[in-house]
Amino acid sequence: MSMKCRFCENETNKFISFGKMPIANAFLYEKQFKDEYFFELAPTYCPNCSLFQLFYQPNPKLLFHENYAFFANTSNYMQKHFKDLSDSLIKNFNLTKQDLIIEIGNNDGGMVRYLNDLKYNCIGVDPSKNVSDYAKDLGVNMINKFFNFELSNEILDKYGKVKCFLSANTLAHIPDINSVFKGVKNLLDDDGIYVTEDPYLIDVFNKVSYDQVYDEHVFIFSLTSISNICKKYDLEVFDIEKLNTAGGSLRYYISKKNKKNKSERVIKQEMIEKEYKLYDYKVYEAFKVNCENSKKNLFDNLSKLSENSKIVSYGATSKTTTIFNYCNINRDLINFITDTTPTKQNKFSPGMHIPIFDYEHFNKNLPDYCFLGAWNHSNEIFLKESDNFSKKGKWITHTPDFKIFSK
Ligand code: TMP
Repeated sequence: MSMKCRFCENETNKFISFGKMPIANAFLYEKQFKDEYFFELAPTYCPNCSLFQLFYQPNPKLLFHENYAFFANTSNYMQKHFKDLSDSLIKNFNLTKQDLIIEIGNNDGGMVRYLNDLKYNCIGVDPSKNVSDYAKDLGVNMINKFFNFELSNEILDKYGKVKCFLSANTLAHIPDINSVFKGVKNLLDDDGIYVTEDPYLIDVFNKVSYDQVYDEHVFIFSLTSISNICKKYDLEVFDIEKLNTAGGSLRYYISKKNKKNKSERVIKQEMIEKEYKLYDYKVYEAFKVNCENSKKNLFDNLSKLSENSKIVSYGATSKTTTIFNYCNINRDLINFITDTTPTKQNKFSPGMHIPIFDYEHFNKNLPDYCFLGAWNHSNEIFLKESDNFSKKGKWITHTPDFKIFSK
């Protein structure tokens, strides 16, 4: 069975199935188990535009709503990352306080939170009401809607052109990618920029981080696929930055066509991607084999360890939903999950129903092993645990290879 690429409408085929999957961020109470929603999680890639995407995606209204579980402010490192980017934009792109800045999907604050504190002219756009209200309470001018072409017309009428668009870990979530870029083109000032970052496909392949694939990540981008999308809307990528955030990301600096010089970094990355052959089925087949080996390795090792030891997952992440469901890891293998997000605590993980407790519970019940569910925040976690869990316990990671280690 095939589907049409969400961007270019070319026929694409799924090359791996991760099986029956619940909504990644739908942490639930026991009474909700019987009504839990499942779908088949299977990615595909478009041989025409190299866009890696989900075969099926549940309706976005099931994912982004008034009880959205993900609050970005749970990571101090990510807060610093967003503040650093907002500082560098002011320094490098001569933004004035009159210029309109819009962040698409700014969650509970984002970058506009910091720019707004400095009295820049900012708007945040986010469809999830609870996180949007949180940002509003911080003083950010919020539009609680999905960003699309229709909304871009409303913004144009009310506020005029946009000097700087921002988004971080947002584009990957929006199935109607054409409508977003049509909206950006509609609103972007002639010398405006769009700075956006998302998990990077080659990092996913190199780290075998198949857990980046879940309902919200309808796309995993590369420079090639983002450039193809830009081209259709008379935009182009003039610079990039490689980032360690979100498990390995690429930040794209986009302008209208022929407005900026293409940097050496873009030219080099284009070469790297060409050599990687992102259009070739063999690349995807190799990823599939790596995922299947990783699954077997993790399940076998956790099964063995759990016979005599207590294992806890550090972080109830959207990624752990894919890992635990794909690898059949239930509470026989993982005793509980600890997470600092209040809206996840005292609930159960989607699908596998592993209980989630707060940090105090973790401290009172230190396990022998911690599985790095929030592996993309490892450095922050190791720092926090250096005088606590790390003194006696061992860490487990599944990426890029299964490893047990002390810190
Ligand atoms: P993310 O991988 O989608 O960013 O989610 C990270 C999750 O990990 C989030 O639910 C908060 C949790 N977390 C902790 O519980 N403790 C920590 O020290 C950190 C950094 C994250």
